[in-house]
Amino acid sequence: MVELKTREEIEKIKKSGKILRQALELVKSKVKVGITTGELDKIAEEFIRSKGAIPACKGYEGFPGTMCISVNDEVVHGIPGKRKLKEGDVVSFDSCVLLDGWYSDSAITVIVGRPKTENDKKLVEVTEQALYIGIEKAVAGNRIGDISAAVQEFVEKNGFSLVREYTGHGIGRHLHEDPSVPNYGKKGTGMILKEGMCIAIEPMVCAGDYGLYTAEDGWTAITVDHSNAAHFEHTIAITKNGPEILTK
Ligand code: CO
Repeated sequence: MVELKTREEIEKIKKSGKILRQALELVKSKVKVGITTGELDKIAEEFIRSKGAIPACKGYEGFPGTMCISVNDEVVHGIPGKRKLKEGDVVSFDSCVLLDGWYSDSAITVIVGRPKTENDKKLVEVTEQALYIGIEKAVAGNRIGDISAAVQEFVEKNGFSLVREYTGHGIGRHLHEDPSVPNYGKKGTGMILKEGMCIAIEPMVCAGDYGLYTAEDGWTAITVDHSNAAHFEHTIAITKNGPEILTK
């Protein structure tokens, strides 16, 4: 069931999302060769708690970190730890904040220092652009499939592929609500978007094939062909004035 949000509720998600954005920007500013993913995770956790908010990924279904930190061929759900970042690593940070009962969810991908290849740079740029192309379609009266198809068409046109196993999702009182928002699909299909819907749109893009497997840690999703991957995500609201980004 889809829960529509009032303007007041959307404002609450936006407050939560602002803290999340600041945390991601802070972490991005600390990325450098030699820093560990665990150190970056601690920076995010301390910042979020200093704002009186809760790092909501931590403990979610037992996930141990404040952020999912996924490096190179890791697509999503990487566990922060002792791994040291290297020049050219493609690193995705995905995190969620809970403030006053309301969730926000957002992700970014950055390259450490200089990109190893032009293709890595393109992968990150295309994934971010795909997110905004999806957001543009998040208009009342459109359907979920309009978002999915726009993202898929753009990414595939650029020679990359989209993950099938994980999708975007409704968000609000819970981190994951209805509807599911796939990053592949057909125009004109799926649920009709309504004013007051809040969703997380999150293209997960692979440079090669989209097939994934889960590492022995039970969390980290890795590309089978070990091609690199990128991930961008925003929490947005569908309003009478169009899509409104709540994690900015
Ligand atoms: Co999400």
